[in-house]
Amino acid sequence: MVNLNFAPNENFTDALKSLLILCQPQTWYRKKTIKKTQQKLAHLFQVKNGAVFLALSARGALRAVLKSLDLPQDSEVVVQAFICAAVVLPIKECRLKPRFVDIETTSFSFDLESLRKTISAKTKVIILQHSFGITPKNRSQVLSLAQKNNILVIEDLAHGFEPKIFQTDQDLPTIKLLSFGRSKALSCVHGGAVLIPQKDINQKFKTVFDNFSYPGRIFIFKSLLYKFTSPIIVATYRYGLGKVVHTLLIKLSCITRELSVTEKVGRYDYWLDKKLPAALANFLIPQLDQYEELVKRRQNVAKLYIEYLHSEKNRDVKQHLPIVRFPLLVKRRDDVMQKMKIAGFILGDWYTQPVAPNGVNLESLGFIKGSCPVAERVCTKIINLPLVLNTSQASELAKTLQGLL
Ligand SMILES: Cc1ncc(COP(=O)(O)O)c(C=O)c1O
Repeated sequence: MVNLNFAPNENFTDALKSLLILCQPQTWYRKKTIKKTQQKLAHLFQVKNGAVFLALSARGALRAVLKSLDLPQDSEVVVQAFICAAVVLPIKECRLKPRFVDIETTSFSFDLESLRKTISAKTKVIILQHSFGITPKNRSQVLSLAQKNNILVIEDLAHGFEPKIFQTDQDLPTIKLLSFGRSKALSCVHGGAVLIPQKDINQKFKTVFDNFSYPGRIFIFKSLLYKFTSPIIVATYRYGLGKVVHTLLIKLSCITRELSVTEKVGRYDYWLDKKLPAALANFLIPQLDQYEELVKRRQNVAKLYIEYLHSEKNRDVKQHLPIVRFPLLVKRRDDVMQKMKIAGFILGDWYTQPVAPNGVNLESLGFIKGSCPVAERVCTKIINLPLVLNTSQASELAKTLQGLL
């Protein structure tokens, strides 16, 4: 069984490593590990070490960035529809106004015309999302539009990113936001980073971020327990044991979730407004060392899906390859997902509403139904295919899916 919705990045090597770390609590807050992680990120993005801040979540880091900007209360932050509530909640928490812009369907990022129409004198920040790790089709136009209008750009690289575009990037110094949550391309259960090369913003951010503490030992223990148990759960799920263990761990609150109950009802929760502890950063170091290979491997699987599943007219998606999951628009989405599940493939559904996940109150987040028709239509048709498979598993999945389309 392939399941994209549970522990897609976990493996037995990391499980063993988590056991070793569990047994060495004296290393959980080691400064050397944090420094090393910062250096690796700085190298990847070609910025100074001091530009990199490691947090326990992207949402916490984003709230701290917005707070440190100290914007007037009616300022607007432009985001795309087709987004996670974890990005919108920090904006609301800082008493800023999210303005939603429709998307295009090549890279699931800003539609340029809709963006042009939305920005105003009140727009102070644009959050440019690299959906599924795909470089936005209109990235350079968005950056120059922002520069012309003196708007700060935060590039949301939470899903993943193509490293090469930043290594040659001399144009506009944007802030970069990363997530290392359990379902992201780089993952250590909970984690995030913000890269701030601009000296003035960096200094202001530092004063806010210095107030963040490290998570307590129980939180770290639960995160390590997730890493230790999840490959075992996946491996034994079909025999029933995995399901029992997973249910028990959740019922007894022994592992943490991705969104808290408070967040699911549309309110900001400070539970992840913390610094990244060494115990979790440990898992990132080898991933950062091998990031380019990871991207290549995943993009090769994406190319395979394109070969199997795309018609000629969609060929241009080849220049915009995803890294975290492969998005595909299908008719009769629920039916396709159900049949794929029976065939042994549990697919993903990022996103089924313009501000995900399903059930988050759109009105309370300022989203007006009907305002972003393309994003709203995409949300009724999209499925996500895993990119963490080997070539033969991916071909099998693609052939099965081909028969259903
Ligand atoms: C595009 C995007 N940005 C940011 C986040 C927030 O990341 P984190 O879970 O690290 O707070 C998410 C959440 O999943 C996301 O999908």
